[in-house]
Amino acid sequence: MNREPIIGIDLGTTNSCAAIVDGDVNGVPQVKLIPYKGGDYTIPSIYAVDDKGNELIGYEAKRQWQLNPRNTIYGAKRLVGRTMSSDIVEQMRKTVQYQVRPSEDNKEVVIDVAKKSLSLQDVSARILNKIRDVASNHLKVAVNKAVVTVPAYFSDRQRQSVKDAGKLVGLEVVRIINEPTSAALAYGVGRHLKKTVVIYDLGGGTFDVSIIEIRDQVFEVKATGGDIFLGGIDFDNAMIVHILKEFKAKTGIDLSTDPVAMQRIKDLAERTKMDLSTREEAPFNIPFITMTAQGQPLNIEMKFTRKLLEQLTVDLVDRTLKIVAKVLVDSGLSTQAIEEVMLVGGQTRMPIVQERLTKFFGKAPSKSVHPDEAVAIGAALYAHSLSDDTNLKLQLLDVIPMAIGLEKADGGFHQVFPRNSSIPNAKQIRGTTSQANQTELIMRIYQGDHDAAKENEQLGEFTFSGIRPAPAGQEQIEITFDVNVEGILTMMAKDPASGKQLKTTVRVTQS
Ligand SMILES: Nc1ncnc2c1ncn2[C@@H]1O[C@H](COP(=O)(O)OP(=O)(O)OP(=O)(O)O)[C@@H](O)[C@H]1O
Ligand SMILES: [Mg+2]
Repeated sequence: MNREPIIGIDLGTTNSCAAIVDGDVNGVPQVKLIPYKGGDYTIPSIYAVDDKGNELIGYEAKRQWQLNPRNTIYGAKRLVGRTMSSDIVEQMRKTVQYQVRPSEDNKEVVIDVAKKSLSLQDVSARILNKIRDVASNHLKVAVNKAVVTVPAYFSDRQRQSVKDAGKLVGLEVVRIINEPTSAALAYGVGRHLKKTVVIYDLGGGTFDVSIIEIRDQVFEVKATGGDIFLGGIDFDNAMIVHILKEFKAKTGIDLSTDPVAMQRIKDLAERTKMDLSTREEAPFNIPFITMTAQGQPLNIEMKFTRKLLEQLTVDLVDRTLKIVAKVLVDSGLSTQAIEEVMLVGGQTRMPIVQERLTKFFGKAPSKSVHPDEAVAIGAALYAHSLSDDTNLKLQLLDVIPMAIGLEKADGGFHQVFPRNSSIPNAKQIRGTTSQANQTELIMRIYQGDHDAAKENEQLGEFTFSGIRPAPAGQEQIEITFDVNVEGILTMMAKDPASGKQLKTTVRVTQS
């Protein structure tokens, strides 16, 4: 085993998984998943604080979540790197039982748990730390480095946020790679393929789809797309809404304000949803969910059929297919050019997802990769390719999921990199002053596909100062936008005449 191991981590919305390469057989690296207590290969991405103030992570946190809904945090990945103003935070607030609020400066999202206030990065950091500890114990060697995967549809800020989370616990995130690309590695490494595949990844929190051309050790992403607010959790929520409605119609009682009842419903809704992937119907019974005003206990007694579940969630499945169609157009390929459709993510076990995809592509999806493990396996393979003692030379040619550009004077959005631009990538633009004796140039950088800059996510504000006083439009400034292999942007500005340079990593400013 390598002295300084680099593990691969799939930091999932619902479940996380870690893996490492351990030797090779006939030149093909052998990946081992890192088992958690009891032999499971996934750890629930859940963090909780119990009433004694102890921190619980993983199964320990999940086991008590019905009874401690206020202090049990799940789905944190959806909020990481998000500003409080984004609609997503508002939406999330309505569906979780823990307390989400804006920070004092109204910029960050804060979670109040027990008596602590945590940022989303803190929560992700604790989960990463747990995974690292499990790996260190299993491998009997300190683990300080990891390749960590993120949804392809993560923005620059969200990627940066995951790197920073690692830093908080002394785990160096040596490389961020995209989840679907990672799954493609799990499929393609060591097989000498020449093939164009679609990776359809519907997990707990996010949906990603990438079209990838595999040429032996080269993995070239042709186009990608997704929705970081579309996953299994939304399927559960659709069921919950239905259950609450039925219960209210029957009893007149609204359970949505009762956190313990809500958590019990959520728990059973998810389990019933999973059952219905293999059964046509399942009972949905919860005893003593609440009491009448007279103190009479009430139960939920319902039956769920697969058909009903499909009716409640078909819109979600259709949303994924719309994204698939768009990505296909972006890639310039036809459905016939797709040689294999790969399913990743637990929610792809739902039969209707597979049926719709079969119809869309005219062929059944392949089951060549394990939907829960492929992403971590790919990350481990990539980690191995970065180590010194390897012949594995992987080349990932990935893309950015959303355009990156700057705000124009009229509020419009000038795209410097359109979506699906390949990375790494650098571009230069020329700027100039608009007023006489202007010594500073301010640029607001955004990421997104909207024509109005402000509708996109602000990545940062960049100030270039030290411009020589001169009439408007005379001084030139040369600005370089550099997106690295991880999809993270750095900017440099230069006065071409004096050669004076300023370099900064783009951050959202506190203005
Ligand atoms: N048999 C099944 N049928 C339907 N859904 C399932 C089944 N098994 C798992 N799921 C759902 O899959 C989701 C978890 O998938 P997965 O572990 O791939 O997500 P994740 O990697 O944590 O999330 P993400 O990739 O979105 O960050 C959960 O919502 C779970 O309910
Ligand atoms: Mg996943």
